[in-house]
Amino acid sequence: MDILYTAASLLTQVEQWRQAGKRIGLVPTMGALHEGHLQLVRAAAADNDVVVVSIFVNPTQFNNPDDFRLYPRLPEADAALLGPAGCTALFSPSVEEMYPAPTVLRFDFGALERVMEGAHRPGHFNGVATVVSKLFHLCQPHRAYFGQKDLQQVAIIRQLVADLSFALELVVFPTVREEDGLAMSSRNRRLSPDERTVAPRLYKALRLAAELVQSGAKSAAVQAAVAEYLSATPTISLEYIEVADAQTLQSLAGPWQGQADVALCLAAHLGSVRLIDNVVVKR
Ligand code: PAJ
Repeated sequence: MDILYTAASLLTQVEQWRQAGKRIGLVPTMGALHEGHLQLVRAAAADNDVVVVSIFVNPTQFNNPDDFRLYPRLPEADAALLGPAGCTALFSPSVEEMYPAPTVLRFDFGALERVMEGAHRPGHFNGVATVVSKLFHLCQPHRAYFGQKDLQQVAIIRQLVADLSFALELVVFPTVREEDGLAMSSRNRRLSPDERTVAPRLYKALRLAAELVQSGAKSAAVQAAVAEYLSATPTISLEYIEVADAQTLQSLAGPWQGQADVALCLAAHLGSVRLIDNVVVKR
């Protein structure tokens, strides 16, 4: 596996692959890799001739400086995992390489970014859209792989690809979980043992919410039940629980009558760690 540190070296490599007719798969990540990431890499290796994995802790998508500073960085361990998973080239640029000058362009995704993560993390999706656009231009993938764990991110990137005519296929994979249900996340490494013990309750709360939605409860009742369930664990501080149309991500107010797939999305703090998770109830 090659490790590329510069945009110029990635562009040169991509040009050679393209001339040789190779199909390119891209898996964008921020590193501290876990099984959720590796499933995307293995899928990309199965579908394409070559696979680029990017590892870049993107400063422009962090609205909290401590979250950026404390984000786990494990370059050696990550590199050791990627070769066996089928990665051809690891792209690992510095901040200066990705942002030689501050960006000026701003994205506005309308209603899509005024809810949930967009509402609670101002500027977050502008940073995501910026860095993902850069990665798409540098890597020119035929397919790009993302996880449903970040459901709103997928919706934003789908809009980005459509609006800017990126000629690639988005491939989305289900959330990979620990045995106790906790969604895998690089931030889980920052949980204390006590926090790790109670963290699976976030997924339990989502399962509870899904049952209530399916039994015809209104959104407000679902939200109240989740808040009450989680309030029994003082270590967990719920930021939001949304009951939304899974396509538009806009809130559903009335009782669900099978009119759309429903996304149940939450964010919560455990100490200084902020986690998100979601489940989708199919029509
Ligand atoms: P990161 O959090 O490292 O996630 C990289 C990719 O892995 C994303 O598409 C994410 O949805 C997926 N992923 C994370 N945890 C997962 C899990 N438990 N199951 C399945 N997939 C999972 O998302 C980002 O990085 C960044 O915002 C990025 C897109 C790289 C832009 O900086």
